[in-house]
Amino acid sequence: MAKLRCPDTVNVLLLGTGGREHALAWRLKKSRRLGTLWVEPGANAGILEIGRACPEPIDDAFRISRWCERENVSLIVIGPEVPLAADYATKLADPPRRFVFGPTKAGAQLEWDKAFAKQVMRAASVPTGDSRTFTDAEQALAYVATRIDGCVVKATGLCAGKGVVVCKTIDEARRAVEDCLVRKVFGDAGSTILIEELLSGPEVSVLALCDGQSFWMLDPAQDHKRVGEGDTGPNTGGMGAFSPTPKATPELLRIVERDVLVPTIDALKRMDIPFRGVLYAGMMITPAGPKVLEFNTRFGDPETQPIMARLKGDLVELCWATATGQLGEAELSFDPRAACCVVVCAKGYPNNYAKGLEITGLEEAKAVDHAPDEEIVIFHAGTTRKNGRLVTNGGRVLGVTALAKTSARASELATKAAACIKFEGAFFRRDIGANLKP
Ligand code: AMP
Ligand code: GLY
Repeated sequence: MAKLRCPDTVNVLLLGTGGREHALAWRLKKSRRLGTLWVEPGANAGILEIGRACPEPIDDAFRISRWCERENVSLIVIGPEVPLAADYATKLADPPRRFVFGPTKAGAQLEWDKAFAKQVMRAASVPTGDSRTFTDAEQALAYVATRIDGCVVKATGLCAGKGVVVCKTIDEARRAVEDCLVRKVFGDAGSTILIEELLSGPEVSVLALCDGQSFWMLDPAQDHKRVGEGDTGPNTGGMGAFSPTPKATPELLRIVERDVLVPTIDALKRMDIPFRGVLYAGMMITPAGPKVLEFNTRFGDPETQPIMARLKGDLVELCWATATGQLGEAELSFDPRAACCVVVCAKGYPNNYAKGLEITGLEEAKAVDHAPDEEIVIFHAGTTRKNGRLVTNGGRVLGVTALAKTSARASELATKAAACIKFEGAFFRRDIGANLKP
């Protein structure tokens, strides 16, 4: 393919409305090549401060595509999994005039179909837990009755982070199977399930930019999924994240690169799937070595917040290089400082929570006493404006992110700043990125 030089001015459309997308918008805005940044009209208040709202309905790919043509949008960055699964990457691309950062539906199948991901991993000898696939409740129930050491029941489709149940007992597993296959609580997304062996060990997220041929591993991040301090309570979309992480040693990253990323990307190539976007391997470091728990085909949320806080270089150029298959020539480096993002949540999250509560304290949070070589950035997640006032609009409301020389200091600073955020019932974990041991 002829070289596709990144234009001097690139109009970008960013899809997605949450914390991850605010971090992407914030970093895109720093690019010297950014022309107009278009965003979703329903985006959070932080994104709408940076970008202009696209007037077309986001769920209509045809109209978006026509509108991109009119507005001379040449790069589309897709944040969330849902538009990827709906094949927006194919529907919105129009090379050589318009490119998309984000895999096509075929590549995104690694995320929207966990059974497919397992097949790819098995065929490519990628280390992952043993598992079996079921669609029939009776067969699945008979199988879980033999799993006396526990198991993990996973809906294979997209369930907004809710389709995985770690089961210590046969009873729990039985309930999880019935939820998916009998009560259909996840609808079609749970009509096929995986029952996987229960693994143990610390978790690390390894994200790589892939352009269909080559890839570039990003500095690793780690998130905290449980709602309570000390990793207790139910799973959430992520209560905070930090980067780098001492768990991801250079040795571990070499293994993940050699045994996970290279064979997976090769397998996609063999299937003629040009994967252009982020391949995110959720890894568990078990006593038998690192194993893949899941693939995502997008940036993580909230991992993107500390990753974007640390990313150096021009994000428009990087996304362009990824989307056009030219990553080999891209430049990428990370701020040596550590970043920690503490997510401030609405009371009740991850279950029911109220919306529309007035939020204050952002200026106080940014002004928390810190050294000149430290920084505080507040990423919005579930926020909106009502009569000019900033109010909550989701369970995860803000990602208070600090950059500092050490992870301990970044954690302390982000936690102090998070304490300045006020709305009725606001809560956050005070141990994000704290007590890190290799
Ligand atoms: P997933 O969406 O597949 O990453 O799963 C969500 C969470 O469930 C993971 O971050 C792990 O904490 C846990 N999990 C998933 N698979 C397993 C497994 N095989 N063994 C133990 N825990 C798991
Ligand atoms: N933080 C986990 C995810 O984005 O899936």
